Amino acid sequence: RAEVQAKSLALSEVMTKAGEYYKQQLRTAPQAIAYLKKRGLTGEVAARFGLGFAPDAWDGLRSVFNDYGDASLVEAGLVIDKSEEEGGGRKRYDRFRDRVMFPIRNTKGQVIGFGGRIMEQGEPKYLNSPETPLFQKSFELYGLFEARQPIREAGYVLVTEGYMDVVALAQMGFPQAVATLGTACTPTHVQKLLRQTDHVIFSFDGDSAGRRAARRALDACLPHANDDKIIKFLFLPTEHDPDSFIREFGAEAFEQEVHDAMPLSQFFMRETIGDNDLTTAEGRARTQFDAKPLLQAMQPSGLRLQLVRNLAQVTQTSPAEIETMFELSQPVAR
Ligand code: GTP
Ligand code: MN
Ligand code: MN
Ligand code: MN
Ligand code: MN
Repeated sequence: RAEVQAKSLALSEVMTKAGEYYKQQLRTAPQAIAYLKKRGLTGEVAARFGLGFAPDAWDGLRSVFNDYGDASLVEAGLVIDKSEEEGGGRKRYDRFRDRVMFPIRNTKGQVIGFGGRIMEQGEPKYLNSPETPLFQKSFELYGLFEARQPIREAGYVLVTEGYMDVVALAQMGFPQAVATLGTACTPTHVQKLLRQTDHVIFSFDGDSAGRRAARRALDACLPHANDDKIIKFLFLPTEHDPDSFIREFGAEAFEQEVHDAMPLSQFFMRETIGDNDLTTAEGRARTQFDAKPLLQAMQPSGLRLQLVRNLAQVTQTSPAEIETMFELSQPVAR
């Protein structure tokens, strides 16, 4: 226990130092500054998010750390160690090279990981820190530290897919945005968000990956959906993400999208009906079949009852029949 804590402390020091280094490097990297400008970012918003640059060098971090061989650099995911492998060649080298760096902070503001974007075409487009004792992707949300106060002021949080979405939205007047870290939105993410606010709006990319992400988010929300929470889904045109949309159409158009976002109940019906033909018994039965695991994932609540009623209506059954058939647990009488 004590050992784990001591290790984590060292890790957080390593991450902080690296973050300072990348930030410093950005000041003298005209190509990275030009890239951020091309993406429409101001120096102000870059500073707010602590953006940096990892130079095009195999051992840039050597200039920051007294001991480049320190195991904690490898543990932190900043240095890759191939010394166990056969074949000679380079044994240790910086993971992040020639990339614009987005530091990922925990809610205390400590740097716990990085996302690095390539500036030209190339693979991978984003390189992320590996998971460490400090950094678990299913738990952390990019931008949450910076967004906490704005979320309180706006009364809602916007959940996006990407680093650039968060930074662009903040610059364009929506600092209440966060992003999942290249992973699906998990129930843990939802729980964390609902500790900050009672109103969550998902705004994923308009492409098919974004639509899949929205469905995963719906699944993740159901265990935590409740009558005092509002959860909505904002669907952008196919070719857009929040960053590209707000740059092309402006803040007012995005505000309108936020205003028009689809309530969870409506998305729930859209997802469960899908392509099912409600004019046939088979289509109605299939709709119930598709709704079953979703309703079973929910706590007893007024919202669940409303969803059951909507489902009963479109499938020509009664709420009681659905509750019995799905063995939905009832609220404990008080
Ligand atoms: P830009 O192209 O810079 O606007 O990024 P984006 O955020 O719009 O990228 P995209 O919609 O393709 O991906 C959404 C998020 O998924 C990114 O912000 C990353 O967190 C993650 N991601 C994208 N590409 C990669 C990749 O090649 N590798 C990994 N590990 N994650 C990625
Ligand atoms: Mn509210
Ligand atoms: Mn995408
Ligand atoms: Mn984008
Ligand atoms: Mn995107």
